[in-house]
This record gives sequence, structure tokens and C-alpha cells, in this order.
Amino acid sequence: MTAESIRSKDLLGVETLDPDEIHLILDTAESMAEIGRREIKKVPALRGRMVVNLFFEASTRTRFSFETAEKWLSADSLNFAVKGTSVEKGESLLDTARNLEAMSPDFLVIRHSSPGVPHFLASRLKTRVINAGDGAHEHPTQALLDALTIRQRKGRFEGLRVAIVGDITHSRVVRSNIWCLTKLGANVTLCAPPTLMPAGIREMGVAATSDFAAALDGADVVMMLRVQIERGGGAGLPSAREYFTHYGLTRERLALARPDAIVMHPGPMNRGVEISSEVADDVERSVILSQVTNGVAVRMAVLYLLSGGSPESWGDGA
Ligand code: CP
Repeated sequence: MTAESIRSKDLLGVETLDPDEIHLILDTAESMAEIGRREIKKVPALRGRMVVNLFFEASTRTRFSFETAEKWLSADSLNFAVKGTSVEKGESLLDTARNLEAMSPDFLVIRHSSPGVPHFLASRLKTRVINAGDGAHEHPTQALLDALTIRQRKGRFEGLRVAIVGDITHSRVVRSNIWCLTKLGANVTLCAPPTLMPAGIREMGVAATSDFAAALDGADVVMMLRVQIERGGGAGLPSAREYFTHYGLTRERLALARPDAIVMHPGPMNRGVEISSEVADDVERSVILSQVTNGVAVRMAVLYLLSGGSPESWGDGA
């Protein structure tokens, strides 16, 4: 049995979703994915609604897939990037958000480098807030699109062995994926050099190792993470070449996983650092571009469900 709606006003993280709510989002996204295969990619489900996309950090996939989701659902979008706004004159985050709220949007989609910013705004605004990535804390829609991709390829979560490899310390993707995959019944093993593995991470219900071969052994899913140089992920690593020698996913290393294991990466990729081009572009094993496609469906589902829509009636413009 799945939930019939999302309980919260906002989507701030996967931590606060229950498994029924996750299944509801995945089921709704699965049905909405069909919109992207139509010749005319437009349904009236969010006609008359307005979404502010408030990005204080760079983004390609998340920002443009939210925008695409909004367009396909017939919502109006306001796109905010710091350059050219009064943030450059020193206007505070809260004043910025309150002034945008004064224009009566229905949603605020926010990405920010500081953990907790979406929660801070959600508690002060009536507008629904969706977390598009807050520091190294959470990136809920990424984990949901990852889960949809895994479900499409593997058909289950229970007992699935997922290896997540790379810069664990600086990754919001890994935290949301740990919440999501463990709630759905998967077994998660994290792998990183000791300098990129945070203390206490096992308390989230996962295994953790610095032995790449051991992490890959028997894995059904291999999720590679970017070394986040801009957040300090390069500190303590001798060089990109040495990182690739020890923790780069090559075809030879992938052979240690199950023969039908899929390869994932949230992007953007550092080719030749955490993953070889040969693996990244392997159409049999890599599902990296399917993750991006599923991102639009998941973001449509989240916007639609948070607006109060019921899973069965989005095609009617409800
Ligand atoms: N996966 C992800 O968040 O990518 P972007 O930073 O390009 O949005």
C-alpha cells in the first residue's frame, strides 16, 4: 500500500519521508514520465501555478530539469541566479525570499551552499519549499530520481546491494541516497579513502570501507560520486591521477561487481578521476543519462503531489 499524498507542506529531505511517500513519488513519476515521450510535451496539471527557482549555486541537471518539469506541467517559472539580482548589493537571503514570496509564487525551489537553508526558509514562508541541494546535507530529488532509475533496472530494492564510492564527506547526494535506499530495504556500502569518509557515517545504517574491491564484490548497483574540489574534496589527496589509480571505476574494476550491475553517477562527472570514459559511456552498464531523464519525471511528481494533486488524476489537469 502506498500513501495517497505527501504529509508535509515542503520537500526538505528524504530523512522525513516514509517508505509509502517515497513509493508514491516514484509511482507518480513513473506515470508522468510518459509526458516526455509525447510529441506535445504539455499537460495542464499546474496551470496558473508559479514556481521560483532560486539557485545560489551552480547547477545544470537540477535547475534545467525543474524548469522542464514546470513547463511540461504548464506552471509559470521565475528563474533566479545571484548574478544581476540585489543579492549582489548585499540583500539578505530572507529578505530576498520574502520579496519573492510577495509576488505570490506557489513554490520556491532552492539550492544553497549552506546546510539547512531550505528548512530555515520553509519555517518562515507560507510558500512551499523544495530543497534542490543544501550544502553537504541533502539533495532529495536526486535520491528519488536515483531510486526510480534503480527500480526500473532492477525491479526491487529489498536486499539489493548498492556500493556508493567517492567523496562521501562532501556529498549531499550520498546522504539523501542513504536515507532513501535503506528505507526501501537496500544494503548500502560506502567506499572512500579515509580522508573522504566522515566519522560516524555507519550510524546511518550502512557499511563503510576504504577497500574498493571489497565494496564492488557482489554489488548490483555501483554509484560513483564526484570528488568535490570546490568544497575541499581535493585536500588530502595526492593527485587526480593517484585517486583514479586507487578509486577510479574502470572496466577491470567493474568486473568485480555482479555481471548485470549498473553504473550510476549524479553528475557532473570528473572523467579520468572517479570514472573512466569507457565505463561512463558504456550503453550496456551506465544509466547516467537515464538518471537525468528520470529527474524531470521525479520533479514533475514532486511539484504535482505537493500542490495537492492526486496520483491518478494528473492527466485531467486536476
Ligand atoms: N546532480 C546534480 O545536482 O547536478 P547539477 O549540480 O548539475 O544540478
